Amino acid sequence: MIAGYAVPDFVSDFWHFYVAGITIVSVLGIIWFLKAQSTQRKLAPGEKAEMLEHAWDGDLQEFNNPLPRWWLFGFWFLILFSVVYLVLFPGLGKFAGMLGWTSAGAYTAEKSQIDGEFNKVMEPFLTMDITAVAADPTAKEMGQRLYLTYCSQCHGSNAQGDGKNFPNLTDGQWLFGGDPATIKASISGGRLGEMPANMLGDEASAKEVANYVLSLGGKPHDAALAAAGQAKFAACAGCHGENGKGMVAAGFPDLTDDAWLYGGSEAAITETVMKGRKGGMPAFQDMLGDAKIQLLTAYVWGLGGGQQAAAPQQ
Ligand code: HEC
Ligand code: HEC
Repeated sequence: MIAGYAVPDFVSDFWHFYVAGITIVSVLGIIWFLKAQSTQRKLAPGEKAEMLEHAWDGDLQEFNNPLPRWWLFGFWFLILFSVVYLVLFPGLGKFAGMLGWTSAGAYTAEKSQIDGEFNKVMEPFLTMDITAVAADPTAKEMGQRLYLTYCSQCHGSNAQGDGKNFPNLTDGQWLFGGDPATIKASISGGRLGEMPANMLGDEASAKEVANYVLSLGGKPHDAALAAAGQAKFAACAGCHGENGKGMVAAGFPDLTDDAWLYGGSEAAITETVMKGRKGGMPAFQDMLGDAKIQLLTAYVWGLGGGQQAAAPQQ
């Protein structure tokens, strides 16, 4: 990068000179045009402006008077302004301008100023216990607004995950855990749940295992298929546990409860086993920062499913 040049959007210098050239030629062209118009038609002392041949709208006539001075000065001023502007700010190809101003820089400065003011208001909440923040009405209101802005597209405006494939955040069933520290880790670091596809080799086996899964949860199922699926569930037990209760903390879902990400019918479970699943929760640390994540953690924790202690690591 050459000093004084912005990070180029142009792949080659040709376009830089091409674009800058057009700009400079245009400005010079306007100067030439204006000079030509303002010098040629000076009236000699005693000379009167002659009327041009044509008339519009019946009686609208045109005289070839010189351009009014105030108008000309206005025009010269605009040209001067554009030259000063192009020297100071980016506008000529990839020349960055003497002031080094960038829209990205202006955005960052403005954002950090707003963040700074926000963080000042937030400071007391940052050092408070999550359970205390959750009990504070102001914090709750701010948390709800943040939630609606950043989280509701996926988890639903009531946080019940009504968009399919997104977990309900209000119940006590957690993929990773419902204690303050784990919720905070989910939000700041993001989560990725990956279930391998077609481990059993064919759809018939997947259907048998699906029925076995239903039987583990005490739900209606086909007993013969479930019996055939029992041995095959060994392939699943490493993650979901012998009893299908999953492993909270590792994000392996409990298959015996009623909290389904992808649906709990025989067909939906068979589809999960055949196709695999990959649920992704984006990381918010860089985007939101500590203060907002603190408020969001308290808000989610306070929705009804919050737990006091971390789930035991298995
Ligand atoms: C792009 C969609 C998306 C957005 C936006 C999103 N999430 Fe998630 N979130 C998910 C998915 C998907 C999962 C489940 C990940 C998995 O399957 O392992 C998840 C998981 C979680 C979990 C863990 C739940 C558990 O059971 O342990 C929490 C807590 C959470 N999200 C909170 C939030 C908060 C708070 C926000 C807003 C800052 C948010 N999410 C924004 C998609 C999203
Ligand atoms: C390597 C670990 C792993 C193995 C082995 C595994 N799973 Fe999974 N399973 C997961 C993960 C992780 C998820 C959650 C995916 C997500 O968060 O998007 C999941 C999700 C599921 C779901 C969806 C749960 C819901 O809430 O909708 C079902 C059903 C399921 N697994 C059944 C099985 C069966 C049956 C087997 C054996 C054939 C199996 N799994 C093997 C890791 C595993």
